[in-house]
Amino acid sequence: MTAKPGLPCSMAPRVVVLTGASSGIGLATARELAARGHLLVLAARRADQLTALARELDPSGSRVVAVPTDVTDDASRRALIQTATEHFGRIDVLINNAGVTIEKGWWWADPDPLRVLRVNLEAPIELVRLVLPEMRTRGSGHIVNIGSVAGRAATNGMYSASKFGIRGFSHGLRRELLGSGVSVSLVSPGFIRSEMTASARLPMPGPEVVARAVAGVLDRPQREVIVPGIYRAVALLDSVLPGLADRIVRRVVIKRRYGSG
Ligand SMILES: NC(=O)c1ccc[n+]([C@@H]2O[C@H](COP(=O)([O-])OP(=O)(O)OC[C@H]3O[C@@H](n4cnc5c(N)ncnc54)[C@H](OP(=O)(O)O)[C@@H]3O)[C@@H](O)[C@H]2O)c1
Repeated sequence: MTAKPGLPCSMAPRVVVLTGASSGIGLATARELAARGHLLVLAARRADQLTALARELDPSGSRVVAVPTDVTDDASRRALIQTATEHFGRIDVLINNAGVTIEKGWWWADPDPLRVLRVNLEAPIELVRLVLPEMRTRGSGHIVNIGSVAGRAATNGMYSASKFGIRGFSHGLRRELLGSGVSVSLVSPGFIRSEMTASARLPMPGPEVVARAVAGVLDRPQREVIVPGIYRAVALLDSVLPGLADRIVRRVVIKRRYGSG
């Protein structure tokens, strides 16, 4: 199936590959984008949740497709991109949302802390490598990476390594692609209610606030959107008063979010 041609840009349905669609921010984003008429390819490991969501959003199965995917597996990533291309004829937008963290305790006590880098940083880079050649040839496309305020104000060392990394990758790639017709946007959420933050003792908005921000950048690509906007102050505080940020992050985030310290 191909996207409808000839609609004004802000209304044109885009073919969107969305990773991490089985829960939290990804699930809310799938609902938001489907409601706006975009054509979706949903990816995550939990096939049951993914298939149920695709059926809920589009019982016909022609506008929303579920492709069970492990983004850390090369064959699985290739199958995702191939299925999306075969089904819709092209990929307009890749949203790298799938993510993990180390839920509790210090990251160095975890048996496999580098999985955070594999999911949050390596997988987005590899997926970009798969979609970029065709986007550049066509002269249009959009990469949307989900970063984090933890990529501005560091928290958990391993998680922040991945989110500082994806932020640097996004900004560098955006500059490399200036003038190519391919856009790169970074959406950096603060604390959001989801499976990832289920054990956090902090006030958090629901994932819909991020879903709306992602839908917004599809119409108007942005260097970086920090959402909710209040977290812009956190990013600023970290850069101008890092000593104060140290104390706040230790007291509020490391103890109440990660249960460490
Ligand atoms: N919640 C927050 O406070 C917050 C703040 C800043 C940034 N973020 C970022 O927002 C994104 C979404 O997180 P969330 O809060 O919505 O957490 P979540 O509810 O735990 O969702 C994470 C998603 O990633 C998928 N995923 C994990 N490993 C995967 C793998 N190997 N292959 C494919 N999919 C995988 C999960 O699906 P399966 O388990 O089914 O594979 C799930 O759909 C992440 O990048 C996260 O770092 C979240």
